[in-house]
Amino acid sequence: MFPITRLLVLYSTLLAAAPYVVVASPVSKAYHEFRRSVPTGWTPARRAEPDIVLPLRVGLAQSNLHNIETYLLDVSHPDSPNYGNHWTASRVAETFRPSDETVDIVRSWLADSVDPRRISLSRGGGWLEVNMTVDEVERLLGTEYYVYEHGDSGAEHVACKGGYELPGHVSNHVDFITPTLQFDVGPRLKRSSKVRRRASMGSKTGSKSSPLIGKPVQNVQSGTLNCNEQLTLACLRILYDFNYVPLAANKNTVGVVEYSPDHYIASDMDLFFGNFSKSQVGERPTLVAIDGGVLSEFGDSYESNLDTQYMMGLVGPKQKVQLFQVGDAIEDSVSFNNFLDAIDGSYCTFEGGDDPDIDAVYPDPYGGYQGTENCGTATPAFVISTSYSYTEVELPPAYMQRQCAEYAKLGLMGTTVLYSSGDYGVAGNGDLCLDSNGYEDYFGTIFNPTFPAGCPYITSVGGTQVDPGATPTEPESAWMDLIDEAYSSGGFSNVFAIPDYQKSSVEKYLQEYPPPYASDVWNSSGSRAFPDLSANANNFSVAVFGEIVAVSGTSASSPTVGAILSAINDGRLAIGKRPIGFINPVIYSPLFRDAFNDITKGSNPGCGTAGFSAVPGWDPVTGLGTPNFRKLLEKWLALP
Ligand SMILES: *[C@@H]1O[C@H](CO)[C@@H](O)[C@H](O)[C@H]1NC(C)=O
Ligand SMILES: *[C@@H]1O[C@H](CO)[C@@H](O)[C@H](O)[C@H]1NC(C)=O
Ligand SMILES: *[C@@H]1O[C@H](CO)[C@@H](O)[C@H](O)[C@H]1NC(C)=O
Ligand SMILES: *[C@@H]1O[C@H](CO)[C@@H](O)[C@H](O)[C@H]1NC(C)=O
Repeated sequence: MFPITRLLVLYSTLLAAAPYVVVASPVSKAYHEFRRSVPTGWTPARRAEPDIVLPLRVGLAQSNLHNIETYLLDVSHPDSPNYGNHWTASRVAETFRPSDETVDIVRSWLADSVDPRRISLSRGGGWLEVNMTVDEVERLLGTEYYVYEHGDSGAEHVACKGGYELPGHVSNHVDFITPTLQFDVGPRLKRSSKVRRRASMGSKTGSKSSPLIGKPVQNVQSGTLNCNEQLTLACLRILYDFNYVPLAANKNTVGVVEYSPDHYIASDMDLFFGNFSKSQVGERPTLVAIDGGVLSEFGDSYESNLDTQYMMGLVGPKQKVQLFQVGDAIEDSVSFNNFLDAIDGSYCTFEGGDDPDIDAVYPDPYGGYQGTENCGTATPAFVISTSYSYTEVELPPAYMQRQCAEYAKLGLMGTTVLYSSGDYGVAGNGDLCLDSNGYEDYFGTIFNPTFPAGCPYITSVGGTQVDPGATPTEPESAWMDLIDEAYSSGGFSNVFAIPDYQKSSVEKYLQEYPPPYASDVWNSSGSRAFPDLSANANNFSVAVFGEIVAVSGTSASSPTVGAILSAINDGRLAIGKRPIGFINPVIYSPLFRDAFNDITKGSNPGCGTAGFSAVPGWDPVTGLGTPNFRKLLEKWLALP
């Protein structure tokens, strides 16, 4: 994110200003943030040169953040009288804006070290920004900066080692500071599912970071003859009792998020529709370009083709699907935060922030959009599906906490945020587990949870399959691709505590089916458990590069659930109700107990273990089970 070459070029002579006299006074300091390990592949190459200028950004603690769960439950718990009374974006921004006291305390602490004129408050009010040399920052934060190198790509990144300190009276007012421990860099962002191209596709091993691609499908059939080998739209409709004609499509919104240079291919889309949904031939998603989002000529197309073809095919010809395409054709370090910047005004200052010289100003002085300025450039859809993930260990805890709070804000505003849980069972992306020092390691034996699956304010979607020889009316099993060793990710977060809404379901599981593993292998301390629910992940017939191939992974499960939830929103909007927003408190409630097809077969191996098992009730493989659309619709139409 902060490649050193760029820092040097940009800022080489920046701080030649008159020296500012630093008056040191003794204060008690403690680690504000600390990490034991850096993400896999990165090693410290050398101490950072003391005169490199760092664009230091201090994330100010937001007001009322400790109340965010209460606020969110108030609008999304089925027993709440305010169910569905979502907040406006400006109410969200107002509620969480850092207080004046916070700004003053942090500013005066910085002003002890640098000329106050160098410090500025971001437009959104969430950050204090100051350019400081490595030497200055090291003294301010009691740390040492290193230039880290990435083994594979040779990329360089400046970060501090171990942790950094803040005085006690400042610490409470700061979320975290960048650049310090973050490695939120592109190469780490994984498509949720993996590719291992089979012999027929070329290399035997292949890349490990995209959806799992099987053989080209022979004798393409559009029906439900063999849903284990050829999963089609028709199979999904039977599996989840999903047949729906939208009534309020013009009021409803649903979208998938893709990270460039991944991109969908239009001709493949027509090939897919030609085979599976003829009336949609020629249809395209509505492109919502974020940070220069384009349909690149580079990159991969399995993920984007899968997500768009199934989301569009399932919602059908009446409902437009938005494609949030994040990042331009060249920059490959776009992250979830870049997307969040764009869809939430209160967050837009996160990475670099909006600049009136660069970004659009509203109301538009040239006569375009005349709404109030929202800082973000895109409106969140009511349902947003993402099939990419990190592992928790790749990101600093405070960074994840802050991003997670942002998902809660989307929930407050009425958006359902879905993420695929991952494809490596109890292991992390790339089949990596943790060693006893907390490092990702091929020989690690400790379970490695994905992110943001562990964030309690998103809905995590795991994977299932139709068993060989079974019909789509028979119960599914947990997705287990034994040949490629790919399994539905699930487990227990190492960062986030268990939210109230899932406590009784998870406790029941732990009591009735205690996992047979020592407590140092999985987090048994009462953590957020995932996934929340699941859907088919096996052998989706997807058109890619001119042929229909079998593509697998929880990457497929997330848009499938997204399409179903979007239809429920349509039903509610059609009778004047609000969209369903953050669904977790609802789906775990007793009211919805029989609205899911409970999955009780299969498991999610990894880290040299058999993983967890799918059992009656919630489990850390398939969550509550797969959706039954007809039942869910009926129950959700009955909620206020
Ligand atoms: C830091 O330096 C950059 C590059 O010169 C400049 O664009 C930015 O405004 C500076 N930030 C602050 C807070 O002074
Ligand atoms: C379907 O999935 C199974 C594994 O779950 C795999 O063995 C089989 O080869 C796949 N079929 C195709 C056509 O790729
Ligand atoms: C269906 O897919 C096949 C590739 O498997 C393709 O040759 C054919 O043209 C497609 N059918 C239509 C109607 O698009
Ligand atoms: C287990 O999860 C909790 C959060 O619920 C966290 O505080 C703790 O550090 C985790 N333990 C390990 C060993 O990572």
